[in-house]
Amino acid sequence: MGRSTKNEIRLARLFPGLTFLHRKKKQSDMQSAISEADLKIPVHLGVIMDGNGRWAQERHLPRSAGHRAGAENLKELCRNCGYYGVRYLTVYAFSTENWSRPDDEVHALMELFVEFFERYDPELEKEGIRVRFSGDIENLPADIQAVCARAEKNSIHRKRMDLIIAMNYGGRREIMQACRAISKEVAEGRLLPENITETTITEHMYIPDVPDPDLIIRPSGEQRLSNFLVWEGAYAEFWVSDILWPDFGFKELTDAFAAFSSRDRRFGGLSKSK
Ligand code: FPP
Repeated sequence: MGRSTKNEIRLARLFPGLTFLHRKKKQSDMQSAISEADLKIPVHLGVIMDGNGRWAQERHLPRSAGHRAGAENLKELCRNCGYYGVRYLTVYAFSTENWSRPDDEVHALMELFVEFFERYDPELEKEGIRVRFSGDIENLPADIQAVCARAEKNSIHRKRMDLIIAMNYGGRREIMQACRAISKEVAEGRLLPENITETTITEHMYIPDVPDPDLIIRPSGEQRLSNFLVWEGAYAEFWVSDILWPDFGFKELTDAFAAFSSRDRRFGGLSKSK
């Protein structure tokens, strides 16, 4: 049985009456021109999980059903990244701007976060996935903060992959908070302004021990960063796909890695071949 058929059966169980639209052949449906053994796997992958609303709309379902299918797919992504040996996976789950959505959608998303760990933590444990959060966590509702703290504490011993959930995250807010912390050190005489370097700023990011992302994937056809990993993603490769997030599966991930494998990352220098 094909992977997408299995996905569809699983989703049909969750949403009785759901019909599956035939997916048009898109660029990302083409066969990768590279064998699995030759794939270059990013150490740190970032994913903007976009398109849940449109996925639900296409099926005449509420937006919350799209987010639920997106959460299911996050679990699949974790498994697929584990298979490929990705060491760090950062997913954009809730931005500092998402508070402007209708209350019921925000509420449904918060409930989904809680449910995600209740349902999937045993699987994350089995896969050796440590859970971490990046974002303005202190300004989340207290019950959500407690869920985050518990998920981090329960998984701290897991070594295979770090799943970093960007939650109440905004790249600009992260830089602003770093500036505040650095200014405080200067004001207290613990740091001289002339000693502030790029490393100082990196050290004041939410999770400074994690290397910069090598590749950022955005499904659903949009071609922007939307305030995701603004500082850390300065040299990340970017890959977009027309597939909506809940349908973004193993094949699309493989296509992204195939494209990444062929990129010439120069970091502002010259190609090694020149
Ligand atoms: C953007 O799609 C997606 C979000 C704002 C939420 C992403 C959250 C999940 C996938 C839920 C799972 C997360 C965890 C950690 C359990 P959109 O709704 O803006 O899509 P649209 O552009 O089609 O409207």
